[in-house]
This record gives sequence, structure tokens and C-alpha cells, in this order.
Amino acid sequence: MLLEAKNVLYSYKSNRDKIVLKNVSAAFGEATFYAIVGSSGSGKTTFLSLLAGLDHPVSGTILYNGEDIRKKGLNNHRKHNISLVFQNYNLIDYLTTEENVKLGGKKDAEKLLREVGIPGEDWKRNVLQLSGGQQQRVAIARALASEAKVLLADEPTGNLDEETADEIIDLLKKTAHELGKCVIVVTHSKHLAGEAEMRKKIKQNEKYPLPNAERCGMISHVETVVQHSSQKEETDEK
Ligand SMILES: Nc1ncnc2c1ncn2[C@@H]1O[C@H](COP(=O)(O)OP(=O)(O)OP(=O)(O)O)[C@@H](O)[C@H]1O
Ligand SMILES: [Mg+2]
Repeated sequence: MLLEAKNVLYSYKSNRDKIVLKNVSAAFGEATFYAIVGSSGSGKTTFLSLLAGLDHPVSGTILYNGEDIRKKGLNNHRKHNISLVFQNYNLIDYLTTEENVKLGGKKDAEKLLREVGIPGEDWKRNVLQLSGGQQQRVAIARALASEAKVLLADEPTGNLDEETADEIIDLLKKTAHELGKCVIVVTHSKHLAGEAEMRKKIKQNEKYPLPNAERCGMISHVETVVQHSSQKEETDEK
């Protein structure tokens, strides 16, 4: 598998007592479009940021091509293996639309902007002059400009009208199937999730206040993203 999480446990430094992810294991391969779903606050963004190497798990490992990403360093992982679309876009506010896309990688920025539906008149404008939905599309174009094999996107269609959202979904699918990338998208959109080959659900179980495994309507494979080693272990949690 290209990217793997093994028994990941995570809590934020500011609140070590609250375990956000516990025993999360999941494997992601090339040329596949994955959707991670789950209720608000269940840990989706947190999980994505660990896959991206923005931080390391408290325990457990993130593997890229079978190797712990800490071996070559999280910086190296972020730089070479991952392109990322954040929930809040993270565009560079003093650059133009086109310059932002060029930061992503060497691919033809104009072609990518055309593909995500940003008209030429906006290419040289400061990116903050674009609407929220347009900025979201610029962030996606920037991620598509990258040569990295993994594309991670947090709610990439959150601010888009249905038609534009459909176009972005098609683009993400093509990125997986034609460019052979591993595309992992976090979403609340049932429609987007329905388009993925594999849906992985992170769920906070009411009985145990920790993310719990749930098998959900996966289209071609049966796999769980969150695996507790045993029911018993959950009940042992304080
Ligand atoms: N920087 C942070 N410091 C401390 N706790 C955080 C931080 N970011 C998130 N959390 C907590 O971690 C938990 C998971 O948050 P996360 O953002 O991963 O959820 P999510 O599934 O992405 O939710 P949403 O669907 O609303 O985006 C929440 O309880 C949240 O309060
Ligand atoms: Mg989130």
C-alpha cells in the first residue's frame, strides 16, 4: 500500500487528555478515490493532517511505501509525497491566482485553472479578490499541479454549487484513475462520498467517547478505517 496508518493514537498538545484518534488503522493505494466520512468533530481533519505529516501520532505509525514517514522526516514527506487542500484553502494572500497554482508544482497552471473553471480574467488578480468557491477551486488546482502521488483534500466541494462540485468531483476521479494518484477526500457530502470507490467512516461512539470502527456502504471493498484491537480494550478506556 502507498500510504498507511497503523494503530494511530493522537491527542492535541494543548489538550493531551482528550484522545482524538485511537487505534486508527487504514491503508490507501494508488489509482483509487477514497472518501473519509464521519460526523463533525469525529477527527477527520486530524486524521488527514497526520497522513499529511503535519504532525506525528502520539503512538502508532504513518507509513509511505512501507516506510515510517519519520525516518526521512515529516518535512520530506510533506514536500515530496503529499499535495494538500485544506479546509480553509491556505492560499497565499499576497499572490495572484496563477502564482498560487504555480507554487503547487510544475504543471501548466493555466490549463489547471481552466479545468477547475476559473476564467482567464481572474488569473492575474490577487487570490483574495476571488469568491470563496473560486478560492477553493484555486486550492484544488494548486494541489493538482503537484507531482506528489497522494492528494489529500478536506471538504473540497464544501463551498461550491452543485454543478461546480460535480466538475470538481470528476476532476478528482480523473486524478485518481487517469493519473494513478491516491486521492483521499474528507467530506460531509453524501454525493461526493457516493462517487468514491471506498468510503471510510470515522465515528464517535456514544457509549465509548472515542472514534469507533464502522463498516459502511463501501462500493467495491470491505474495509474499516478505524479498527479497535478489541471491544474489550474500548471498555478499558477511562
Ligand atoms: N488544534 C486543536 N487543538 C485541540 N483540539 C483540537 C484541535 N483541532 C481539533 N481539535 C479537536 O479534535 C477533535 C477532532 O477535530 P477535527 O477537526 O479532526 O474534526 P472533523 O471530523 O474534521 O470535524 P469537521 O467535520 O467539523 O471538520 C475535536 O474534538 C476538536 O475539538
Ligand atoms: Mg474537519
